[in-house]
Amino acid sequence: MKTLQVELGESGDRSYPIYIGQSLLTKPELIEPYVIGTQVLIVSNETVAPLYLDKVKKTFSAYDVKVVILPDGEQYKNIDELNTIFDALLTAKFDRTCTLVALGGGVVGDMTGFAAACYQRGVNFIQIPTTLLAQVDSSVGGKTGVNHAKGKNMIGAFHQPQCVIADCDTLNTLEDKQLSAGIAEVIKYGLIRDMDFTVWLEKNMHKLLERDADALSYAIEVSCRCKAEIVAEDEKESGVRALLNLGHTFGHAIETSTGYGNWLHGEAVATGMLMAADLSMRLGNLTEQDVERIDNLLDMAMLPTRAPHHMDYDHFIELMAVDKKARAGKINFVLFNKLGDAMVTNDFDHELLRETIEAHRAIDGQ
Ligand code: NAD
Ligand code: GLY
Repeated sequence: MKTLQVELGESGDRSYPIYIGQSLLTKPELIEPYVIGTQVLIVSNETVAPLYLDKVKKTFSAYDVKVVILPDGEQYKNIDELNTIFDALLTAKFDRTCTLVALGGGVVGDMTGFAAACYQRGVNFIQIPTTLLAQVDSSVGGKTGVNHAKGKNMIGAFHQPQCVIADCDTLNTLEDKQLSAGIAEVIKYGLIRDMDFTVWLEKNMHKLLERDADALSYAIEVSCRCKAEIVAEDEKESGVRALLNLGHTFGHAIETSTGYGNWLHGEAVATGMLMAADLSMRLGNLTEQDVERIDNLLDMAMLPTRAPHHMDYDHFIELMAVDKKARAGKINFVLFNKLGDAMVTNDFDHELLRETIEAHRAIDGQ
């Protein structure tokens, strides 16, 4: 097992560990230091619960455990479903010493974390991510929340977990498409600031797709280390953390426009990253070969790189204006200074953006 630490707070008292390894769901000693009271609510969904809930319940058997099973899907990541968690907490008379446990992918993790942030103005929670995307990204860093019909992840809070337990064995039951979606976020870390890792991904993508355990745990470790460093430096996203949103401005617009759940988050981010690369090329920061290299890497990972045909420039602009990085009506993008070095900017020519969008729209009917 590898242990990484997310270093937070001057006194370090909000710092927490990320455990990465195999057979971790059945280790009570990992969770015991982080459960302060006796009441535990495990939140999962109808797909993940049949696979892993019994194991996790057993691990928490020393506590008074209640369970909430949410419907599965990004379309249920909303305020209404969040209420199911509050109903369960209040019905069971959970107090401020309770601990919430998120067992599932990023949707369950973001919702459980947000419920923990709000319940009695904040209670403890533990992340047990079961998708690659959640293990490398959403379970770490304390961004929690739900979607609104008008914008992705628009309602939420920063609330850090007590610990993260990433058991790579859970990835064996994941659909191929979901694995690829997680790889999109893995590729992101390389592209924003680690060219050595990008080169490693180019050489080892086939191993990740074959679910080679060593390759997967290495990719999870490098990704979590990068995320932990960035979050330690800029917890509330006033600077460097925004780089983690490479591809997300375009990507969130695609997710919102196509209806939550129709494009996977990682798929939308993949297309968004290529669009960000294309715009960076038009601004003179990347070469055509650089963009081709990113395109090839995404292609190797079986990820989409074309936005839906119906999304023209005006439509993108309307949706991107609701992005959390937008300031005073100006859209901020994460673009490249060069390959392996990203930056945030709103200094771009809209004609170039129009060209990028037109170059990356799928052909009608595709
Ligand atoms: P998800 O939670 O919808 O999970 C994907 C699918 O895999 C679901 O159908 C789920 O039930 C299923 N699943 C989960 N674990 C499984 C397993 N081990 N075996 C079989 N099936 C399994 O999606 P996701 O990709 O994990 O997360 C996407 C969400 O995360 C989005 O809502 C996105 O906004 C959010 N996100 C948040 C952050 C953050 O910093 N908080 C970062 C990135 C993404
Ligand atoms: N996924 C972006 C962030 O955590 O900041």
